[in-house]
Amino acid sequence: MKIIEQIAELRVQVAGWQKDQQTIALVPTMGNLHSGHLALVEKARQLADQVVVSIFVNPLQFGPQEDFATYPRTESSDATQLRQLEVATLFLPKVSEMYPSDSLARVTVPILSEQLCGKSRPGHFEGVATVVTKLFHLVQPQFAIFGQKDFQQLTIIRQMVNDLNFPLEIIGLPTIRESDGLAMSSRNQYLSPEQRAIAPQIYQTLSRLKSQISMGGTDYNSLCHQAQQQLESRGFIVDYITVRTQNTLALPTLNDHNLVILVAAFLGKTRLIDNVMVT
Ligand code: PAJ
Repeated sequence: MKIIEQIAELRVQVAGWQKDQQTIALVPTMGNLHSGHLALVEKARQLADQVVVSIFVNPLQFGPQEDFATYPRTESSDATQLRQLEVATLFLPKVSEMYPSDSLARVTVPILSEQLCGKSRPGHFEGVATVVTKLFHLVQPQFAIFGQKDFQQLTIIRQMVNDLNFPLEIIGLPTIRESDGLAMSSRNQYLSPEQRAIAPQIYQTLSRLKSQISMGGTDYNSLCHQAQQQLESRGFIVDYITVRTQNTLALPTLNDHNLVILVAAFLGKTRLIDNVMVT
């Protein structure tokens, strides 16, 4: 596996593939890879001749009080896992390579970025959209693979790709979970053993809400309110729990049938997100 740190070298590699008419799939990550990330890589391998995985802990998407400094960085074991999956190229740029000190441009997807996680993490999705745009320009993939675990992120990236006419296909893959239902996340390791033991209740709560809605429940506000109270009685601080439409994240009317239930909740200092679709 080739590990590329410099943009100039990446461009040469990409130009070579294009000359040989090889297709490219990109899997953007912040590293600390787990089975959720690796499922995206497997899909990328099925779709394209060449797979580029990027590992970049993107400072632009972290707020000043967030965990940029402490975010787990495990590049060498990540590289070992990617080698086992026969990934051709790992793009591993430094912050100064992606954001030279004179860089100013930002990519914004208003409305979608301002709600849900965007409310409590101002600037987060602008940071995501900006880095993903840069990666798309650098790698020029035909396919880019993302997880539904970050449902709002996936929705924003799809909107951006549509609005700005990026010539690529976005693939969204289902959330990979631990055996007790907790969505895999690099941030799960911040949890104490006690917190880890109650964390799966997020998914249990979502699953209960899903069956209530599948069985005909339409008073989403009161169902979500009950769910929030249950979570809070078990020690979560709920940021939001809400039912939205899958395509636009709008509040659903009774005519909308493709729904997603999204939740963000703190256990101590750790912010966990999850969602389930109801179709
Ligand atoms: P990161 O959190 O490392 O996630 C990288 C990709 O893995 C994202 O598409 C995310 O949705 C997906 N993913 C994470 N946990 C998953 C799980 N349990 N099951 C399935 N997929 C999962 O998301 C980011 O990085 C960044 O915001 C990024 C897009 C790389 C931009 O910096």
